[in-house]
Amino acid sequence: MWISFAGIITNYKDVKQFLVQKGHKFRSDTDTEIIAKLIKHIHGLHPNYSFRELVEQVIQQLEGAFALCFKSMHFPGEVVATRRGSPLLVGIKTKTKLATDHIPILYSKDSPEKVELKEHSKLKDHRPHGHEIPAHGLARSQSTSEFLPQGDNKEVEYFFASDASAIIEHTDRVIYLLDDDVASVEKEGVLKIHRLKRTLEDTHAREITTLKMEIQQIMKGNFSSFMQKEIFEQPESVVTTMRGRINFDSETVVLGGIKDYIGEIRRCRRLLLIACGTSYNSAIATRQLLEELTELPVMVDLASDFLDRNTPIFRDDVCFFISQSGETADTLMALRYCKQRGALIVGITNTVGSSICRESHCGVHINAGPEIGVASTKAYTSQIISLVMFALMVSEDRISAQPRRSEIIQGLRNLPDQIKEVLELDSKIQEISKKVFEKKSLLVLGRGYNYATCLEGALKIKEITYMHSEGILAGELKHGPLALVDKGMPIIMICTRDNVFVKCMNALQQVTAREGRPILICHKNDQEPQKYGSSVLEVPKTVDCLQGILTVIPLQLVSYHVAVLKGCNVDCPRNLAKSVTVE
Ligand code: M6R
Repeated sequence: MWISFAGIITNYKDVKQFLVQKGHKFRSDTDTEIIAKLIKHIHGLHPNYSFRELVEQVIQQLEGAFALCFKSMHFPGEVVATRRGSPLLVGIKTKTKLATDHIPILYSKDSPEKVELKEHSKLKDHRPHGHEIPAHGLARSQSTSEFLPQGDNKEVEYFFASDASAIIEHTDRVIYLLDDDVASVEKEGVLKIHRLKRTLEDTHAREITTLKMEIQQIMKGNFSSFMQKEIFEQPESVVTTMRGRINFDSETVVLGGIKDYIGEIRRCRRLLLIACGTSYNSAIATRQLLEELTELPVMVDLASDFLDRNTPIFRDDVCFFISQSGETADTLMALRYCKQRGALIVGITNTVGSSICRESHCGVHINAGPEIGVASTKAYTSQIISLVMFALMVSEDRISAQPRRSEIIQGLRNLPDQIKEVLELDSKIQEISKKVFEKKSLLVLGRGYNYATCLEGALKIKEITYMHSEGILAGELKHGPLALVDKGMPIIMICTRDNVFVKCMNALQQVTAREGRPILICHKNDQEPQKYGSSVLEVPKTVDCLQGILTVIPLQLVSYHVAVLKGCNVDCPRNLAKSVTVE
């Protein structure tokens, strides 16, 4: 048995206990092994079951979030794949055109019930006797033969993956599977999608989508890691985020995915921005502007904490779910929680066809292109721009907001060139990184719009360098963190000319008075803060609400260089996954 597994099985101990009682021996303590042993056990009891039926029996016993793909020597030439709570797609490659752009769902005539695994229970025969019935009463032959390629050459290859970037070099045609879909490829090369039970919300077919991704988007090219490539892609990725949405001459912004909901959004009680990790930091980065331009209360929450609190949600709330992958379990559960309570759900994602995308009422695709490095970089800057565009769109009808809107739109216009300028600091940042890479800790200080940069910079540093790092609001220094400051403590401080500049200078002086010699990120040619820095990284000036895009890039580069100097795996940091599909 060959199993490819992503996710977590939460009841694996119970299943294991049952199988041990049945005489199965285990070589590991992993949840993956119980899946292999369980299918073996059911096959032993019911040797006449088809491969797909065996898998259907297995998943009825499993709890948790998973994507699974099975192959077996007992069923040569067949593959069965299924998902629950973890993403899974099927890529289809044929020499000739397919005769259809969708594949109908097949249901078993008798829905098998879930069998509880109790101490003395025996897995019962829940084989769906009788034939399969496709939804909408399509005959079986109709539903399957239509799917084969047209013409004489019926050759077809299937690829199973969690993310489209893994298969784009082979094919651009994919089917996104939904929870509890069981996809099977049988000997004749026909793909079928089954569901155990028919529910009211079921759609009757899965669409074959054509990906818009290019192969070069997922190649490293001359870069040493995807993360480095993705940092350097930002002058282009911010442009694709804005393309077709901002008219810089007429100073108008249209986000096609939410334009029909703008009236409802303007009338809402409050905006809630809910996300995890970097995506949460993008909400922190834009909260102030959203409050200013929408004149609405804006709540920002970490998805896990939001769920822990059973937060009250009302029908006239508008809830934004920000997620690069669109599959983060906590964010998705928070989305379902808010949807059940009648709020309007807006998805901000980078992954077309993702669960968050599908389950939202409306949304914005950030169009940053595939992000493969576990550390999120270009998605962060594109998330900020997407939320800024949203604020600009909502405030279009406010005459008093026009000068502010105009300066932001022109700021966005100049951003790609300014990002290029920041990226030129790379070799200087590499030198600075050599001075800090052996230290135990690195504090990142700032306030106002740059506070999100501190959080995001510190997250990048701890995530890929394994060094302790903390983003600290400079206004909080006196309330505790100042005790950490001495001449040995490495500090990066962001001090740009905005409405909190004077307060930042004050914090800088408090740090230097304790012999701290911070690395400073400040505006080009701004002499005043520079005299207090051990090194200075000068960034171009932009509008306050966009400045965080330019100040975060040096920190992305610091984390990258420190990780390289420490010999860490930049793209795949230990213990972390790109999509966190489990709680
Ligand atoms: O896919 P998402 O944006 O929902 O992921 C949320 C976090 O897991 C993610 O941003 C994580 O913090 C990044 N790996 C940080 O670089």
